[in-house]
Amino acid sequence: MTVTFRYQHIQTANEEEFVARGTKLLERATIEAVTKRGHCILGLSGGSTPGPIYAQLGQSKDIDWSKVSLFLVDERYVPKEHAESNQRLIAETLLAHARIPRPNLVFPKTTLAVENCVADYEERLRSLFAEGAPDIVVLGMGEDGHIASLFPNDKAALEEKQCMVLHVQTDRFAICDRITIILPLLASARSMLFLLRGKNKSKIFEETVSAKFDPLRYPAHVLLNTGRTTWLTCW
Ligand code: 6PG
Repeated sequence: MTVTFRYQHIQTANEEEFVARGTKLLERATIEAVTKRGHCILGLSGGSTPGPIYAQLGQSKDIDWSKVSLFLVDERYVPKEHAESNQRLIAETLLAHARIPRPNLVFPKTTLAVENCVADYEERLRSLFAEGAPDIVVLGMGEDGHIASLFPNDKAALEEKQCMVLHVQTDRFAICDRITIILPLLASARSMLFLLRGKNKSKIFEETVSAKFDPLRYPAHVLLNTGRTTWLTCW
């Protein structure tokens, strides 16, 4: 049986349009969550793509930032001042402008030993999600098809359902130790926005959206299957 995924695809013509559309989509979804539920729970990815969008979004005057909580869908296990830290990326972009109360920033504490860091992050996420499911998660995708720090064919991580947060190791990047949240939690979000920029991402995008359901090869399939994903692309 061929599965046809339902998803929204917005192809942009250039970097400027990519940043403007991405910012608008996130701004609207955040305002809608705050208006409807009084609070927005926003999950963010790192990597090289989303920075300019986070910086623009942080400047929105129409969002009541005191009603927004942030968490990370994944983090590299490095100090938060490290060049590769996703917390650092968010601090230097979105949080350089948006006044979000400190208790609303739910990020892994990478000063803790890795197993304590995972347990502590899990506990804080559980209390965050006791208020409701994530409203929005922002994701990228690697050329190999990984999302967050969930890598193709990492069966144990991709099939995990009990622990919300995992420590994974990869030899694909210089920083091999990573903290990631699990697929079912990503897929529980009310909306999921994928940001893919660069010619080298078009092949994996086409492959992912047209392949038959195979979440071990294409972790994004679990999210695509919900019908709630939007893919903003630029190539
Ligand atoms: C990270 C991620 C990761 C990222 C992809 C795409 O922290 O690295 O959350 O899943 O989104 O690797 O990264 P680029 O935007 O750098 O292509």
